[in-house]
Amino acid sequence: MNILILGGGGREHALAWAVMQNPKCDKLIVAPGNAGIAQIASCADLDINNGGAVVSFAEENAIDFVIVGPEAPLAAGVSDRLRDAGLLVFGPSEAAAKLEASKAFTKEVCAAVDAPTAGYGHFTDAEAAKDYIRQQGAPIVVKADGLAAGKGVIMAFDEATALEAIDDMFGGAFGAAGAEVVIEEFMEGEEASLFVLVDGTEVLSMGSAQDHKRVGEGDSGPNTGGMGAYSPAPVLTAEVEARAMEEIVKPTMLEMARRGAPYQGILYAGLMIKDGQPRLVEYNVRFGDPECQVLMMRLGAQALDLMHAAAEGRLDRAQVNWADDHAITVVMAANGYPGAYEKGTEIKGLDALPEDASNMVFHAGTKALDGKILATGGRVLNVTARGETLQEARDRAYAAADAIIWPGGFMRRDIGWRALK
Ligand code: AMP
Ligand code: GLY
Repeated sequence: MNILILGGGGREHALAWAVMQNPKCDKLIVAPGNAGIAQIASCADLDINNGGAVVSFAEENAIDFVIVGPEAPLAAGVSDRLRDAGLLVFGPSEAAAKLEASKAFTKEVCAAVDAPTAGYGHFTDAEAAKDYIRQQGAPIVVKADGLAAGKGVIMAFDEATALEAIDDMFGGAFGAAGAEVVIEEFMEGEEASLFVLVDGTEVLSMGSAQDHKRVGEGDSGPNTGGMGAYSPAPVLTAEVEARAMEEIVKPTMLEMARRGAPYQGILYAGLMIKDGQPRLVEYNVRFGDPECQVLMMRLGAQALDLMHAAAEGRLDRAQVNWADDHAITVVMAANGYPGAYEKGTEIKGLDALPEDASNMVFHAGTKALDGKILATGGRVLNVTARGETLQEARDRAYAAADAIIWPGGFMRRDIGWRALK
C-alpha cells in the first residue's frame, strides 16, 4: 500500500514511525514532514489545506491511502475532495469536523443526545452574554466558538475577568473565531483524553492519555499545545471508559450519522472526570499532539491496520492487541515558548540515542541544514519511551532528554506526576 500522511509535527512523525513498521506499507510520503520524518520516509512540499492540490499529488504518486494529521485540512474539506476523487482517507468530512471547528455545534449535539457535559449558553451578542455571566456568576468559562489554536478559552475565576473576555472576543481578539461565544459552567475534576476509532457506525477505543497543557512545572504558567503526555491515563479506568463510550461517544456518533454527517477517523474526547462520572470538555477530530506519540509508541505497526479498518468501514471485525505497558513523551521546546522564541538554534547529541520499539525521539519542529539539526518551531522534540511501568518509561525518557545538547531549549521535569503521585 502507498500511503500519504498530511502534516509535519511530532504527531505525524509518530504516525509515520508506526506505519513504516507495518509490512503492508510499501511506500510512505509525508507532506510537508520535518527533519526527523525525512530520516524514515520521503517528505514532499505540498499545500495540505488545498484539496485540489492534495488530490493531484495523491493521483500522481499512486497513493492508496491518505492519513490526515491536523484539523485544518479536515475543517477545509480536504478529506471530502479526496473521497470525491475515489481515494481512501482516514479523517472526517468537513461536516463531521464541525465537532472540533464549532463549540456551539458540539454543545447542541450533546444536548440533543443528553450527553453529560457542562451547562452552557451560546451568544452572538455581547450584552446578552454579559447578562448570562452576571446571572450565573464565577467561576465560569468563556470560549470563542471557532478554531483558535487552543487559545480561545478563558477560565474566569471572577465575574470581571469573564466580562472582560466578552469584550475581547467581540472586539475581535480571536478574529472570526470569536464572533460567537459559548459560556460554560466550570467543571471540577481530573482531565483525561480518550481516543476512539470511528468508521461511521462502529467505535473502538484506541487508548487513553493525559496531557500537560501548562508550560511550567506543577501545572503553572500559560497554556501550551502540550508539554508532555503519557498513556494509559489511570483516571480513565475500564468503568469510566465504558461510561464515556455509552453516555457520550456512541450517542454523539449515532446523532452525527442520523444528521447525514457520519464520522470516520479518530475522535479525541477530552473528558473531565469526577467521582467516576466522565463529562465532555471538548471533541477534537484528530489525534492529540503529543498524545499521539504515546499511543503510537504503545500500538506500533497495528496502528496502520486499525486506521485502515476504520477508513474501509471494517471496525466491527478489528481489535486492538494491547500489551500491559506504559508510554511517556517529554516535549522539548524552544526557550521562550509559548511566547516569542528564537528559531534556528542547533540541537546536538541526537545520533547517539537509541531508537527502537521502546525509545524514540519524534521531531516536531526541526529542519536539517548542512548536516546540522536546527530548531524551527516552539515545540521541537518529543522524547518518548515505553516500559513495563510508567516509572521505567519516564526514567528512560528523561535519560535520553538529558543526553540531548540543546542550550536553546527547555522541558518540564515533572511529566507524569499525576499518575505517579
Ligand atoms: P477546550 O479548548 O474547550 O478544550 O478548553 C481548553 C481547556 O480549558 C480544557 O482542556 C480544560 O482544561 C479547560 N476547560 C475547558 N472547558 C472547561 C469547563 N467547562 N470547565 C473546566 N475546565 C474547562
Ligand atoms: N495536546 C492537545 C491537543 O492536541 O489538542
